[in-house]
Amino acid sequence: EQAEKNGYDHFMLKEIHEQPEALKKTLAGRVDQATKRVQFEELQWSLERVEQWDKITIIACGTAYHAGLIGKHVIEELTRTPVDVEVASEFRYRRPIIDEKTLVIVISQSGETADTLAALRQSQHLGANVLAITNVVGSSIAREADEVILTMAGPEIAVASTKAYTTQVLVFYLLGIYLADLKQKITKDYRIQLLEAVLDIPNKMEELLEYSEALQRYSESIKDASSVFFIGRSLDHAVVLEGSLKLKEISYIHSEAYAAGELKHGTLALIEEGTPIIALITQKEVNEKMLGNIKEVKARGGHVLGVSMKENMEMLEYVDEGCYIPDSLSLVTPLLTVIPLQLISYYTSLALGNDVDKPRNLAKSVTVE
Ligand code: G6P
Repeated sequence: EQAEKNGYDHFMLKEIHEQPEALKKTLAGRVDQATKRVQFEELQWSLERVEQWDKITIIACGTAYHAGLIGKHVIEELTRTPVDVEVASEFRYRRPIIDEKTLVIVISQSGETADTLAALRQSQHLGANVLAITNVVGSSIAREADEVILTMAGPEIAVASTKAYTTQVLVFYLLGIYLADLKQKITKDYRIQLLEAVLDIPNKMEELLEYSEALQRYSESIKDASSVFFIGRSLDHAVVLEGSLKLKEISYIHSEAYAAGELKHGTLALIEEGTPIIALITQKEVNEKMLGNIKEVKARGGHVLGVSMKENMEMLEYVDEGCYIPDSLSLVTPLLTVIPLQLISYYTSLALGNDVDKPRNLAKSVTVE
């Protein structure tokens, strides 16, 4: 096992560091450099076919569900097609509005999650076309779906998912650009700008992974907290949900993630002197609003770690501590901001002496209900 960890103390840390490579492998062959277009050999979709679908429903569990939330934002933003995201265990026990005019996308690292598989079968039964995004060739979900896009993350051993998540998110960027191009919803210039931003992510991730010492120190400082709050708006909100889940899974610290504008509707009552708050501030159109939300929690004694792009130096005037990601298009920042959040959960779990790779009560793959 030590050999498999390749010099890292834990599989989770190894897998966090494997992300740039996993993204490159997932990108390989999917961007045509000559035409600057996304190509999916596995999808033989014509414009006519794509236009049969008047909505998209994304279904998944856990971390894969969080990747789906980013997928919704990206696909809606680029294609203006309505997208719902549902957790599989809820979907399968209601009467979902799905038919042949729906494209269902199921996401599953293992391809074996019982609830997701049941949702896939139910969707097909209702007449929908099901596309699976999975990391395992030959898994039940890969076999039963109508179409499959494989993430090339390689085996993920740690229970807390990291590289599977970022490769799933990457597939949504590619799929969003692909659909938008097919439906002629974006200009060529914008398509090229988006693709360049996506292709640049692995290098920016490498850069980000070099600076983990400050995050280790920060993690030591929150290890005895009774609660940690994560806040963000827009895409940042989807990312904090994942950051909070990661922290809960392996540190066992209670944490919650909120859309920052919702604080005033309840959560603000929980903020007291010293409460740790991790705030993501990367979405330009809501930057001012986020800074306002940070002021609200600071006024109640909250201790704020702000995560933003380098160009946002103004943030430092509002937060107690800052963590910077390389400058990027707002739409693709989730692939960068999630890195410090993964590292914080890892180092917090480590500081507490927990079994990082095998957290209590959790399984890597949930194949029974
Ligand atoms: C388990 C794992 C999670 C994972 C979820 C869905 O709960 O511990 O990390 O996100 O299952 O798994 P899947 O294989 O369907 O992505």
